[in-house]
Amino acid sequence: MLGIIGGSGLYKLEGLEEVRVLQIDTPFGKPSGPIVVGKLEGKEVCFLPRHGPDHNIPPHLVPYKANLWALRELGVKRVLSVCAVGGINRNFRPGDVILINDFIDLTKGRESTYYNGVYSPKVEGEDLPAKLMREGKVVHVDMSQAYCPQMREFLAEVLKKHGVPFHPSGVYACTEGPRFETPAEIKMIESLGADVVGMTGYPEVVLARELTMCYASLCVVANPAAGIAGYRLTSKEVLQMMAQREAQIKSVLRTFIML
Ligand code: HPA
Repeated sequence: MLGIIGGSGLYKLEGLEEVRVLQIDTPFGKPSGPIVVGKLEGKEVCFLPRHGPDHNIPPHLVPYKANLWALRELGVKRVLSVCAVGGINRNFRPGDVILINDFIDLTKGRESTYYNGVYSPKVEGEDLPAKLMREGKVVHVDMSQAYCPQMREFLAEVLKKHGVPFHPSGVYACTEGPRFETPAEIKMIESLGADVVGMTGYPEVVLARELTMCYASLCVVANPAAGIAGYRLTSKEVLQMMAQREAQIKSVLRTFIML
């Protein structure tokens, strides 16, 4: 099953059939909100709004571990995340979609692994990640292809079909937030090799990979990053751009679900 994590401006996915709204608890606490499971033309999908259904969870307090664990419990094998980002690369315009292929972590002490060497009792039908966790194994997950190349390829085809301006690759820098960056920070982040900046892409991608789920992220440039446009950044600008793109992104998601 495909799991979709919606970011700023994407709080539900309409048009699903046989909808079930699930309140799930996990060993890592409750996810950001109820998870909606439904079908689109027979294809099952589940949807979780990262910031909660009413957008009241800030980026640094998103329960990333609970979110990914809950999706996995539902049988999700592929996760598609939608994120608003600030554009650093001058070729990326507000409204463009970036299918990121790598990340730089600039967050500060977020809980970013399931593998903390914690021993726990054996559970029925445990899979490999659960077994490794239970046994307290030291696990180093490969990040040389953090974002699923196949999902990115399919997404590129769908974006092309829908006429959405997009870039097939880009490096995402994740900052701690919830404040925006300073212009000096953006200069530094640019010099590190990042094309876009956001506050929620990490540790989501890592946790998905630790649970052996494929993960891809569809990033929408909501604003030029601090110091690039020469004016003050506001959340309103971010939400306005996401609202402008909402219908288009939802059609892209629907086509992707049905692939
Ligand atoms: N910086 C960090 N996160 C963001 C931005 C930004 O400029 N825009 C949307 N999310």
